[in-house]
Parts: sequence; C-alpha cells; structure tokens
Amino acid sequence: MREIILAGNWKMHKTIEEGESLVKCLEEKFKDSPLKVIVFPPFTAINATAKIAKKIKVGGQNMYFEKEGAFTGEVSPIMLKEAGAEYVIIGHSERRNIFGEKDELINKKVHSALENGLKVVLCIGEKLEERNAGKTEEVIENELKKDLDGLSSKDITNIIIAYEPIWAIGTGVSAKPEQAEEVHKFIRNLLDERFGDNVGENTTILYGGSVKPANIESLAKMKDIDGGLVGGASLKCESFFEIGKFLSKIKGL
Ligand code: 13P
Repeated sequence: MREIILAGNWKMHKTIEEGESLVKCLEEKFKDSPLKVIVFPPFTAINATAKIAKKIKVGGQNMYFEKEGAFTGEVSPIMLKEAGAEYVIIGHSERRNIFGEKDELINKKVHSALENGLKVVLCIGEKLEERNAGKTEEVIENELKKDLDGLSSKDITNIIIAYEPIWAIGTGVSAKPEQAEEVHKFIRNLLDERFGDNVGENTTILYGGSVKPANIESLAKMKDIDGGLVGGASLKCESFFEIGKFLSKIKGL
C-alpha cells in the first residue's frame, strides 16, 4: 500500500515564532488523523518546530550534497538531521529556475540525502511552454532519468515524487485532475520500467500546484494521486487541516 501524504512547503515564510505556533495548531488538529503530515519550514525554524512536532513530521526545503566544507550559505544533510528533519525537498522548480540548479546537482543531492538517512521529496514538472509544445512527457522522463540516476529499487522506497507543473504553482489555478492523473500514471509506468520490483505501484506520488481545500477532493479522486505538496494553503492551520480532512475522506483512511 502506498502512503497517502499531505506535505506543506512553507517556502520563505514563517519566523521561528510563527512556525512554532503553526505546528502547535497542526499538532492539535491532526492528532487523530490517519494521514502522514509533513511540514517544510525554512532552515531557521526547523529545529524549533521539530521540537514541538510529534504527529507532524518535519523536513528541509533544500540541502547541499557535501557533509561539510567551504560552501558559504549551504546546509548539509547531517545538519538537517541534527536539527530534526527527517525529509528533504530536492529539485523544487524554484531551486531549478531561480537558483539555476541542474539535474546533475539534483542527482548528487538525492544520493547524499539517502546516504545520510533523509527521505527525499523529489519535485519534477514542466513549464507552460513545454506543455503547450507537447513536451510534458519528454520533460518528466528526462528529469526522472537524470535525477534518479544510479539509484536502486531499494533506494526508491525512501523517495516520494512530487509532480508540480510549474504553470500551476502559486497561480491559484491547479492542473485539472485528469491532466495531473495522466502525468502521475506516466511517472508510475516510468518507475516500473526503470526499476521493476513494483516500484511504480509502491511509490507515493504527490501533486503540487495551487492545491487548496476547494480542489483537493477532485484531485484526490484520481487513483494515482497520493496526496499533495501544498505551498500557499499550508501557511494557515485551518486551510491546511481542511485539505487534510478532505484528502483522508476521499482516500478512505
Ligand atoms: P502553491 O500551493 O502555493 O501553488 O505552491 C506549490 C508548491 O510549489 C509546493 O512546493
């Protein structure tokens, strides 16, 4: 059985104090929920939020692949773990497009995260012009191939894929459930072809891009969508909880 997950990527939001108060609220709301819930605070708030989080899991939004060294401004997987992170997002489109991260670097980060005992949320997704040019599958296949290079089927058990079409991020307009489902199915098939061992069937694939209480039900009805990676709507306790409530209901948890 694949795990159904609700993940909140806070991006560059929340001070320590704000993060603590959000996690306190989420702990209370989700305490009896069957869902796995993960939040991704900015680096500065990981430790403080992880100290409060019990039911809620905590992750980092990025990391560098080296353990330590002269890499000004970077954070290592060991540092993330020590701060209380169990997960790390790698390859978010904002890292790729604003900070110029390439698949080769992303692949090194994925290897390093797994070697250091972090679970990875690997983000992939196409730009609008790529979708309009009919290149969605090509982009997805290329990212998956390069980002997961050199990994075994066992490694993939510690990876969650997040399909985040770039044109749907922060726009208020999510992909249509059928559009997302088509890509999720495609990803699953690619994983099966590449790794065998039922990897495609067993890997959790999240959808991200303008997920909110009003659209999670129709997205979650799709059988290959195993939850959401939520940006804006994860910043408020109530809206994130609402998404979780609908998600568990549709998935019959
Ligand atoms: P929004 O939910 O704000 O569109 O962000 C999605 C995202 O990028 C999550 O990683």
